[in-house]
Amino acid sequence: MRVLGIETSCDETAASVVALEAGQAPRILSSTVLSQIEEHAAFGGVVPEIAARAHVEALDGIVEAALEDSGVSLDDIDAVAATAGPGLVGGLIVGLMTAKAIAAASGKPLIAINHLEGHALTARLTDGLDFPYLLLLVSGGHTQIVLVRGVGDYQRWATTIDDALGEAFDKTAKMLGLPYPGGPNVEKAAATGDATRFVFPRPMKGSAQPDFSFSGLKTSVRQAATAVAPLSDQDVADICASFQAAVTDTLADRVRRALDRFRKEFPQSNQPALVVAGGVAANKQIRAKLEQLCADNGFTFTAPPMALCSDNAAMIAWAGIERLRANLVEPDAFDFVPRSRWPLDSVSTPVVGSGRRGAKA
Ligand code: KG4
Ligand code: ZN
Repeated sequence: MRVLGIETSCDETAASVVALEAGQAPRILSSTVLSQIEEHAAFGGVVPEIAARAHVEALDGIVEAALEDSGVSLDDIDAVAATAGPGLVGGLIVGLMTAKAIAAASGKPLIAINHLEGHALTARLTDGLDFPYLLLLVSGGHTQIVLVRGVGDYQRWATTIDDALGEAFDKTAKMLGLPYPGGPNVEKAAATGDATRFVFPRPMKGSAQPDFSFSGLKTSVRQAATAVAPLSDQDVADICASFQAAVTDTLADRVRRALDRFRKEFPQSNQPALVVAGGVAANKQIRAKLEQLCADNGFTFTAPPMALCSDNAAMIAWAGIERLRANLVEPDAFDFVPRSRWPLDSVSTPVVGSGRRGAKA
């Protein structure tokens, strides 16, 4: 089984070919990702119109490169999978329309993929994980703990009621005058900072409610920055370190709760696992804390390699393979309209104020 995947939901233009042969581990035959960071950096965030235009200009070449690198011709592809949501609608239209055109011209089936499903299933591509497992998705647009029961079978256990964690990192960076993208720069500054200088709130910590909240923390960071302004490099480092300590603590508290729930709901599971995905999973302090938490609780900790944790098309091609073999391909995918919002778990009630329209997932 070979699937061509296309990803254009935010500021990466990506294409990939993934193959699965009977009795073998899946193989990524090619994965091409073109980041638009430079185009957006001057604006301090992703500009949807610039993103859509950049996708239009780059996508054909990226698909060609991915096919060439894979050594597979379009004739040998079994299906074309494309991200159809959630994300910035301009980019989604570019990717999905291109996929429709390739699929129609080559007579192959088209598979519309939920970008979040791509993140959710990556650990099966990289580590062959069995269902069920827990997924912590921490990116610029989402902060969720999801029970992954099977392909297309997800249950959201926790979500943010305001900002996403990556967004909190980005806003903190902006307030402190650090460049975009904020996460890696906050982490870098935190390395030389004193995490005990500012005592920031640990939102929701200890609360029986499972969700996340980061907007109050953001306000505290702003107040601290205003109080000590003008900021020296050491002030910035100390605020970053104190902020990072607060979010790491909060995250660990929320995840511990989910691990306990998983134990209760799946007492017979002999290899319980937590998977982390999304850009924030690159943060070393957060990663180390989660790893420790898993070790203490008898969970396997799985973090796909960074290139597959942040946005890419291999995860979309892989989700396509998972859907093909589970017979979960919609017959009318050619009519599929891109969705800027598309929750993984369609049953849980949306949380008021959660997520952003067209946000990066
Ligand atoms: O998954 P991703 O590449 O894109 C999507 O949001 O889909 O995640 C990007 C987010 C940004 O908010 C970025 O600031 C954050 O991940 N991020 C980090 C780090 N690297 C990226 N946050 C904290 N520490 C990092 N090292
Ligand atoms: Zn993503």
